[in-house]
Amino acid sequence: MIMDLVFLKIETEDEVTRLAQLALEIWNEYFVSIISKEQIEYMVEKFQSVHALTEQIKNQGYEYYFMNVNGKNIGYMGIKQGEGKLLLSKFYIHKEHRGKGYASHAIEYLVKISKFRRLGIIWLTVNRYNDATIAVYEKKGFRTVRTQVADIGKGLSNLLCKLI
Ligand SMILES: CC(C)(COP(=O)(O)OP(=O)(O)OC[C@H]1O[C@@H](n2cnc3c(N)ncnc32)[C@H](O)[C@@H]1OP(=O)(O)O)[C@@H](O)C(=O)NCCC(=O)NCCS
Repeated sequence: MIMDLVFLKIETEDEVTRLAQLALEIWNEYFVSIISKEQIEYMVEKFQSVHALTEQIKNQGYEYYFMNVNGKNIGYMGIKQGEGKLLLSKFYIHKEHRGKGYASHAIEYLVKISKFRRLGIIWLTVNRYNDATIAVYEKKGFRTVRTQVADIGKGLSNLLCKLI
């Protein structure tokens, strides 16, 4: 089952359009219990619209991957390589596919990428109140380094790191 998960790098305009659609669906479904509809709309437009994604991929060094199972995109992740470290910028799985081990598999894939690129740390920020997700990251070996004021959203975000 988990072996069926593959990671497809997003490159074409058509793929970016499909990514923006998937992001819109997942963000609206998931964040509604954490932040307001207006904040979701603002954040999707700022970070996950076709325009924003194209800019990130073309000019800001971001890489996006569909998580694809049997031909269906069930989630996606966005990463950015920095000096000695890998930022896991976005990590979203569609509701009906959560809890099946796909995130664990994806994190293994990120560890492989990091080792291959000789990067020693994977890091990310997550909304301070996104408890279920923080629990997943902690289970997978990430540790909270600090809590900081986020520029958007509900005030605070945690910065977590995993040493490779
Ligand atoms: C966060 C997210 C990507 C994780 O994906 P998932 O499919 O739920 O995770 P998995 O089923 O692969 O589980 C990952 C691991 O966490 C563990 N886990 C899951 N829920 C847990 C919980 N509440 N407490 C502790 N561990 C938990 C699993 O047992 C598994 O560990 P294992 O493989 O070592 O046994 C997914 O839930 C998601 O898209 N959430 C909504 C969006 C979001 O918050 N994204 C991140 C923004 S920073």
